[in-house]
Amino acid sequence: MSTSAIEIQQFIQLDEKELDARIIAAKKTLGERLVILGHHYQREEVFRHADFSGDSLKLSREAANSQAEYIVFCGVHFMAEVADILSRPDQIAILPDLSAGCSMADMANLANVERAWKELSEVLEPDETITPMTYINSAADLKAFCGRHGGIVCTSTNAPHVVDWAFARREKILFFPDQHLGRNTAFNKGIALDEMVVWDYELPMGGLTPEEIKKAKMILWKGFCSVHQMFKPEHIDRFKEKYPEGKVVSHPESSFEVCQKSDYVGSTEYIINVIRDSEPGTRWLVGTELNLVNRLHEQFKHEGKNVHFMSPTVCMCSTMFRIDPQHLLWTLENLLEGKPVNQIKVEPIEAEQAKLALERMLEISP
Ligand code: 13P
Ligand code: SF4
Repeated sequence: MSTSAIEIQQFIQLDEKELDARIIAAKKTLGERLVILGHHYQREEVFRHADFSGDSLKLSREAANSQAEYIVFCGVHFMAEVADILSRPDQIAILPDLSAGCSMADMANLANVERAWKELSEVLEPDETITPMTYINSAADLKAFCGRHGGIVCTSTNAPHVVDWAFARREKILFFPDQHLGRNTAFNKGIALDEMVVWDYELPMGGLTPEEIKKAKMILWKGFCSVHQMFKPEHIDRFKEKYPEGKVVSHPESSFEVCQKSDYVGSTEYIINVIRDSEPGTRWLVGTELNLVNRLHEQFKHEGKNVHFMSPTVCMCSTMFRIDPQHLLWTLENLLEGKPVNQIKVEPIEAEQAKLALERMLEISP
């Protein structure tokens, strides 16, 4: 007789010690049938259970290479979708809490991007002149859109390579959803700010004139990350006044002004490596999510390194934070019962087209 899945309510009241012990026990029983992937922004109580941690690129490669039957993704929805797309059809990708989305990813949707493509076709031939390029922080149907229109996906690590790939094929890029990653990357590639325009998806024709569209090399979607937009150039000025010898490292989802004032800019994995490889006693101001910054501080304080968070106000990624040990244990104990909960399954046709755009990216990634 088949029974239904264990309910989440049974896990809400458990204390940290019990949660921890039961997660460890469930992992042990599931053995190689399970892999837990953890993004760097995960809270410590979850992060410590990850078999592999990384940025979006590293984790998508782990998902593609994993032989495990169950891929439990401690991250956000688009990451679990990528795991499903890149893994074998018989593997099961799981997101412990389905409400863990990405507010930036939600700023672009298929209807708005298709409308933009149609409106752009009133000015030029988009399929011949524009490469659609989506940040991996986007829904699977947008990756599929890129797949079928000769486009590509990028992450914060490989965006410069992907921009080169795109410009080698067509003269313009429509970049969504994060205007900042698009602007910061293109500027470093020698594209001037006046060759970039922002497409306001709430306005007809993106709020642009046909002349502006024709002149632009980069058409940047008006999306942003609510966490990284909190970092301001004045935070860097204040830090440098106080610690002139201090160094600044920021994630490229931060604004152009913040990235220009930073000594280093790169993905979460890059940020970790830069601080890890720095001299003992170095002081750092870091423009990325708080859980990672706190972890870096703890990890490197014994080397006398000081790691400061860029914003004076607390800004965590509230959706990453939704993955808690309660939900992780709930998914694992259901797997022990043979009842996967919160499976993320992308429609086959959409998955096939999205895979095309992801594979184009993986082929050219360093
Ligand atoms: P990374 O790929 O650099 O880890 O970035 C993912 C993300 O969502 C940053 O906000
Ligand atoms: Fe999305 Fe920003 Fe959270 Fe990254 S930090 S997952 S971009 S909302």
